[in-house]
Amino acid sequence: MENNRSSWGSNLGFLLAAIGSAVGLGNIWGFPYKMGKSGGFTFLIVYLLLAIFVGMIIMVSELAVGRKTKLSPIDAYKQVSKKFAWIGWLATIAPYLIMTFYTVLGGYCLQYIALNMTKLSFGNASVGLDGGGAFGAMLTTPFGCVVFTILFTIICMLIVQGGVSGGIEKFNKIGMPALFVMLLIIIIRSLTLPNASEGLKFMFVPGYAVKAGFIDSAPDLVTVLGTAGGQMFFSLSLAMGAILTYGSYLGKEENLVKNSVIIVAADTLIALMAGIAVIPAAVSYGLSQGMAPGEITLRGPGLLFITLQNVFSNMGKVGPLFGVIFYVLVLIAAISSAISLMETIAAHWIDKDLAKGENDTRSQRVLIVSLLILVGAVIVAADGLGENFSPASLLGISTVPTFLDCFLDFFDCWSEGIAMPLGAMLMALMIGWEKTPDLVLDEVAHGDPSEGFKKFYKVCIRIVVPIVMAFVLAGQMIDFFGGNQVIWYVVSVLALVVFWVVAAAGKKEA
Ligand code: PHE
Repeated sequence: MENNRSSWGSNLGFLLAAIGSAVGLGNIWGFPYKMGKSGGFTFLIVYLLLAIFVGMIIMVSELAVGRKTKLSPIDAYKQVSKKFAWIGWLATIAPYLIMTFYTVLGGYCLQYIALNMTKLSFGNASVGLDGGGAFGAMLTTPFGCVVFTILFTIICMLIVQGGVSGGIEKFNKIGMPALFVMLLIIIIRSLTLPNASEGLKFMFVPGYAVKAGFIDSAPDLVTVLGTAGGQMFFSLSLAMGAILTYGSYLGKEENLVKNSVIIVAADTLIALMAGIAVIPAAVSYGLSQGMAPGEITLRGPGLLFITLQNVFSNMGKVGPLFGVIFYVLVLIAAISSAISLMETIAAHWIDKDLAKGENDTRSQRVLIVSLLILVGAVIVAADGLGENFSPASLLGISTVPTFLDCFLDFFDCWSEGIAMPLGAMLMALMIGWEKTPDLVLDEVAHGDPSEGFKKFYKVCIRIVVPIVMAFVLAGQMIDFFGGNQVIWYVVSVLALVVFWVVAAAGKKEA
């Protein structure tokens, strides 16, 4: 059975695919804003510390569990632990939920590429497109959004049907270098706009966001910890099965620690570069229009599809060209992440088929997964980020907590908000307390971890990761559900204690 299982063509191919999974919409529309809002360099330092002490550790662990079992999440966790086998389900349902809106956002990119292309080819670029108008019109045209969501899903489907090395690896080998070059082009353009330095100060100078009026007040350190932790997990594709699945296709001879360091470093670098490409341009445009700093949309879909479209429309004749380059860049980032999620879900059935001796079911399984994704995605596409209808409006609720705002937030809440931090917490407790860290370290040993790394890993997986995850979980619940913060901290700590006890009780079978 193992012989027929897919594998990467090379370690470089794996690295580009894993970096492709990590580099996504999260880097472009989450990181820069959260960094600016949370105190610039302070946030960066917290983020880096978390990436090293928690992100790296989970990354190594996921790669190790994947490669050791050579299975997709559900069966991999089943093989490793009876008690915590259900982490595998979290790591398969979460990617499904993420895909229900990631495909919609990918569809928006396709529409914006088309919009800028028509401007380009019909040569009337001097009449720039109004970002707000274009975005509103798009959201309130559910039919178009559904069609482009389907188109994006088909693109991802065809790549994943091509196989691990024949589809996913190939796409990333071309896509990642291309993304990098396009990012450099946008950075140069962005930094040469008037007042670009204000944007850089927003991102990097501690306290500048408040001083210059971008935000009212700076968040406290605990909030920063939660924000940075949630961002780091999403951005590194952790606790969503994707890294585990990619690791399961990796050869025994590859060094898991080194690979993890490279993935974390590359993802963080691209997040910073994306910030430098996007924020100065957005701020420059806003200030040139006489907006107060606080009025400029610097995050989420509004940043990508309103503010930045206005930036391009404002550039005159060359605007649509930069627009096309930028939205193609975002599209590549979205595809390279989406295919890792799609592969994670499909791999479950493909593995089952392999175990039964059926070898050629990939295309058919990926097709079924794509159709399942579209069931959820059509709802997200149709609700137009809550413009047309929303969970809250369907339920007839008037004061709306974030998670009922629109179906995107609703699905995001269960995946990024709950499954992800909980999954990572449980994984750490499983490895550190139910089993022993050697479960991972023995697998890593194929790439020779030093004694120093072993000690570092043990402390982190047993103590640091579980505790940090409780904070991240609380932070996510506060973001999605609102209400009294203390309650969410209590709930999270309770969950931590209960699962810790469950994991440590009956620790025998190492
Ligand atoms: N890391 C991707 C991003 O930054 C999203 C993602 C999460 C992809 C989980 C795969 C798994 O947008």
